[in-house]
Amino acid sequence: MDMANFPRVELAALPTALQPAPRLSRALGGKVNIWIKRDDNTGLAIGGNKARKLEFLLADALRQGCDTVLTTGGPQSNHCRMTAAAAAKLGLECHLVFNSRPFDIRQGNLLLDELLGAKLHWRDPAKIENISREMSNLAEELKAQGRRPYIIPLGGSNEVGAMGYVYAVQEILQQAEALGIQFEAIVHASGSGGTQAGLLAGKLLNNVPTGIIGVSVSRSQAVLQPQVAQLCQAVLSLLDCDIDPTDHVEVTDAYVGAGYGLPTEASQSALQLFARNEGIIIDPVYTAKAAAALVYEVQAGRWPAGSNVVFWHTGGSPALFADSIFWEGNQK
Ligand SMILES: Cc1ncc(COP(=O)(O)O)c(C=O)c1O
Repeated sequence: MDMANFPRVELAALPTALQPAPRLSRALGGKVNIWIKRDDNTGLAIGGNKARKLEFLLADALRQGCDTVLTTGGPQSNHCRMTAAAAAKLGLECHLVFNSRPFDIRQGNLLLDELLGAKLHWRDPAKIENISREMSNLAEELKAQGRRPYIIPLGGSNEVGAMGYVYAVQEILQQAEALGIQFEAIVHASGSGGTQAGLLAGKLLNNVPTGIIGVSVSRSQAVLQPQVAQLCQAVLSLLDCDIDPTDHVEVTDAYVGAGYGLPTEASQSALQLFARNEGIIIDPVYTAKAAAALVYEVQAGRWPAGSNVVFWHTGGSPALFADSIFWEGNQK
C-alpha cells in the first residue's frame, strides 16, 4: 500500500521542531552536534510520541465506525493519557484498563486521565491472567451495552500505530535537507517498540544511513530486539516492501538500571543536564534513560568529530509530577 493512502486523522501539531542543542553539545565535549527532535511538543494534553501513533490508530477506529476506544498501561502511562486526550478531541468514549491495583490519589498522568474524562478500570496483575484478555472482555461488555469499541494495544505499538513514525522519518529528512545536514544517528527511548519499528522502517524505506538506536527502558535486549524486528517487518509489509530489518535493529538495555521507572545515577544526571543546559525537561521513566545513553556514547567517542546526532524527545514529563510509587515497576 502507498503511504499516502493510509487513513490518518490530524491530532498532532506537526512538524515538531528540530532544535540544535549547543550548550548540551559543549557540555559533552563539543565534538558532536546534538539536535533535539521535540516530539514532547506534539500537543494532545502535554505531548509525546503517542500523538503520531494515535493519528493512524484513531483513523482506523473511525473508519471501522467505532465510538469507543480501550487501551492499557500503568497508572502513569503517557500512552493512556494521550489516548484519553485524542478520544476527547474526537468525541469518542475512552476506557483505560490499568495493569495495577487501584490508586486513590491522582497525580501526574493519572490526574490528567480523569480530567480528560476517561473511564478508569483497575486490574490487579496478581489476579488476572493477561491484560489483553481483560481488554477483550471489557470490549464484549461494552458491545452488549450497544457501544462499538476499538482496542488499542499497549503503547499503541502495532503496525498501524508505528506508521506514525514512518511519516516522522520523512518529516525529519525534510528538516535535515533544509538545514543541509545528515544525521549519523537517532537516539530514543524504546518501550513497547512501536516508535523504533516505525523509525527503522522509515530509515529503510528512504535508504538513509542514519543509525536508529533504541534505548530500552524496561525489557532486555534479547526480548526487545526481536520484537522491534517483527513489528518493523509488519510495517514494511503493509507498505509492500520486502526488506528484512533484522540486521538493522539496534537495541541497548544497558541503561535500564534496576527496572522500569527506577532512576539510575546516569538518568538523574541526564535530567539535570538537559534542564540546566538547554532548559528542556525530559522525563524520569523514558527519556532520561535514553539521554543517559546519549551522554555515554558521545563522551565515549562513538561518533566522529563534526557528526550530527539527534536525540528524539518522546515526551513523558507529566510523570515528573507523580510520586515514584505510581510507576508500575515500583510496586513489585
Ligand atoms: C515518553 C515516552 N517515551 C518513549 C516511549 C516508548 O515508546 P514505544 O512504546 O513506542 O517504544 C513511551 C511509551 O510509552 C513514552 O511514554
